Amino acid sequence: MMQWSASQQRAWAALNLGPVWEPLPRSGSREAVQPNEVLRQGATASQALSPGGSSSDSPAGWAELRARVADCRDCPLGHQRKQAVFGSGSTAARWAIVGEAPGAEEDERGEAFVGQAGRLLDAMLASMGWSRTKDFFITNVLKCRPPGNRTPAPTEVAACARHLQAQLRQLEPLALLILGRVAAVHLLGGSAPLAHLRERIHLVGSNAREIPAVVTFHPAYLLRSPQDKAKAWEDLNRFAALQDRATEALRCAGL
Ligand code: URA
Repeated sequence: MMQWSASQQRAWAALNLGPVWEPLPRSGSREAVQPNEVLRQGATASQALSPGGSSSDSPAGWAELRARVADCRDCPLGHQRKQAVFGSGSTAARWAIVGEAPGAEEDERGEAFVGQAGRLLDAMLASMGWSRTKDFFITNVLKCRPPGNRTPAPTEVAACARHLQAQLRQLEPLALLILGRVAAVHLLGGSAPLAHLRERIHLVGSNAREIPAVVTFHPAYLLRSPQDKAKAWEDLNRFAALQDRATEALRCAGL
């Protein structure tokens, strides 16, 4: 398990998130907490979350994770893919986005969210003034494309889980934006419909170290159901409010 610096541990404690990363639970997360509970500005103003740079951005760590994903044959998808899709964006980002699985274009190019759904995701991020390349690390529950873009099988999700866990441990994001039901069920557990998961801040992880998360619609769903784009906009604003709280906590701590 990666060691956290003292300031990182204080930062998590200040936000009431705890000092130590624990593996993501197979099912079940703490849920339905209010933003104020999650990002309560701590007991001391000198404590806040780490920005996710320094130790979390170790090039050796990322290189090793990339190699593990590229070599992975833990499920049959590893033998069928053209390329494994590790993730895109910045490995020094404070924020992470987790989607479902690569599609045809992602499989072809080896990059996450570069197809039609990815272009909508880009537009959604741009509408909030966020940069996909600088502000986020974007990845998926599955690193390999399921044939015909079918829904990932539970066995595939289970086989791939170690890669996402390792990425989140390495990145130490301050908050997660979860796209769609497959990622929500994997990260949060349970079987609630997406509509029930959207309007709350969740905590992903277990016990000591938990990452606040907002759930929204998958962009592929929004392409089919554009009437829900307004709700997705609300979700992005919820995520922006979470970002503001984390950023303010960092500012108070002088980090
Ligand atoms: N859909 C996803 O969930 N991820 C991608 O990378 C592309 C489409």
